[in-house]
Amino acid sequence: MKLGKSSIAKPLTTNKHLIRWVEKMAELTQPAAIHWVDGSQQEYEWLCDELVAAGTFIRLNQEKWPGCFYARSDQRDVARIEDRTFICSFSKDNAGPTNNWVEPYEMRKKLKELFNGCMRGRTMYVLAFSMGPVGSPMSRIGVELTDSPYVVANMRIMTRIGLPVLQEIDKGSVRVVPCMHSVGAPLAAGQKDVPWPCNEAKYIVHFPETREIWSYGSGYGGNALLGKKCFALRIASNIARDEGWMAEHMLILGVESPQGEKTYVAAAFPSACGKTNFAMMVPPKALGDWKVTTVGDDIAWIKPDANGQLRAINPEAGFFGVAPGTSEKTNHNAMMTLRRNTIFTNVALTPDGGVWWEGMTDEPPAECTDWRGERWTPEIARQTGAKAAHPNGRFTAPASQCPSIDEAWEDPEGVPIGAFVFGGRRSTTMPLVYQAFNWSAGVYVGATMGSETTAAASGAVGVMRRDPMAMLPFCGYHMGDYFRHWIKMQRSLSSTPRIFNVNWFRKGEDGQFLWPGFSENMRVLKWIVDRVRGRAQGKETPIGWTPYYDDMEWAGLNISRAQFDQMQEVDRAAWRKELIGHEELFIDVHDHLPPEMIYERELLICRM
Ligand code: OXD
Ligand code: MN
Repeated sequence: MKLGKSSIAKPLTTNKHLIRWVEKMAELTQPAAIHWVDGSQQEYEWLCDELVAAGTFIRLNQEKWPGCFYARSDQRDVARIEDRTFICSFSKDNAGPTNNWVEPYEMRKKLKELFNGCMRGRTMYVLAFSMGPVGSPMSRIGVELTDSPYVVANMRIMTRIGLPVLQEIDKGSVRVVPCMHSVGAPLAAGQKDVPWPCNEAKYIVHFPETREIWSYGSGYGGNALLGKKCFALRIASNIARDEGWMAEHMLILGVESPQGEKTYVAAAFPSACGKTNFAMMVPPKALGDWKVTTVGDDIAWIKPDANGQLRAINPEAGFFGVAPGTSEKTNHNAMMTLRRNTIFTNVALTPDGGVWWEGMTDEPPAECTDWRGERWTPEIARQTGAKAAHPNGRFTAPASQCPSIDEAWEDPEGVPIGAFVFGGRRSTTMPLVYQAFNWSAGVYVGATMGSETTAAASGAVGVMRRDPMAMLPFCGYHMGDYFRHWIKMQRSLSSTPRIFNVNWFRKGEDGQFLWPGFSENMRVLKWIVDRVRGRAQGKETPIGWTPYYDDMEWAGLNISRAQFDQMQEVDRAAWRKELIGHEELFIDVHDHLPPEMIYERELLICRM
């Protein structure tokens, strides 16, 4: 990409460390130009024009999709790549068995080779960003040096960037997390660029002790938007452990009762299991005047306040949501959010300059161009099975545009958390909902969570794997120590949030889902809130408290007592297998496993 008139080569900071680091990294990567990102609207528009000129962006029909752009990635760069993600702690033991580890000196040597001259012919963008509202005591700052203008455009939606953040850095007292990113595709003089440069070799590397991120070869999602998974989860989980707070793969939502009582809930689900839908749920009218508001859809930073109450912020400023399956019916609020100022990646392009994906409408368009740039029709799909949108096609949309956004979503102090919810995609065994008996039983529930894999990461889909607290790909240190940290957090709390487990995905013998899901999940949420508020009964079972049929609100939904019993069934034979699965995880992490996890497993076995 050529440097435009408004490119800023002059540092927009007085911070000498930052300037020196940028110079050093420019010496290493040898970009053709350096652009300090100010974050302004004017700059964004210039960047989008350049992306259109480069063929990375297609401007959508501005009447129907104002401010929206469309991108197609390289077909080999479509998801997070967990097997190329590394936690390079000083000792292998600190990374633990669930992370890929390479000796940090070795990895630095490798990175130096990879980054040597890797930005030739490209512009290096200096992108200062804040995770969390600028100036909040819970926020943290990073600077990403990237040669991808697509990344800059997405980061502008997903985080707070530019001058206000640089001003924070100029105060001199904040620690900045350095984030290096390159698509790994240097351009020789006169070489024509491709719309989506990337490299076959991919490295997503974290140095937890020095709080550094180096990402090479990919321009997609969590591999490249380094504020998200790399910083806000993998590095932040290390910071949080050291400082006594929690960085979690959780949505945050508010539930407002008809009487105006507000309860905030944080919920952990693995990638592409409906977090965005749950966070933006529209409750069924038949339930009365309940309201759900959205604080965040993916990540929560949670910290005890001076009174021992856990408070949470959403460190992000946008949604990087999975598009397929998102519709007026499944997520009205997301559909409203993404109508303007949104970047769509790897969905289908319609002939009238709009976008489409599987599940968006009942009727597919007669024709469109699919995510690979090929002609797609329903007939072609029937014959070949081709998808119009990649299953991990995404929308990047500003959170502020969400109709259900919570009034306190940018409160620098965060919102008080009343309940934690864990949930996986399980076609068997796990009931619709149950409540753990206490904090350590709840930590056990989260720690032993399992889920069937989705397209959010590369690899096989639909395979059951343990995904503790939905953090398997995101915990930046030893998983056993992470469980210990959860156990220890209780000591800083005056009252602990109640902990629940849900499963929207249980199937009957006919292979059909037993629970309708989506807005009907409000019925489960209502029981959860009623439990938190001490209003609802719980039936004791070996795994925890479950709702009585009569304690659930059924107005407007035809679910019989027998059907509900089937959803809630604790099948002892299946749980026997489940416990053996827990044991397998525990064997992997046994030398760091806190004793509470062993006690909880023993108690569960006894109750079974
Ligand atoms: C995400 C993910 O993009 O979890 O949020 O993969
Ligand atoms: Mn996620």
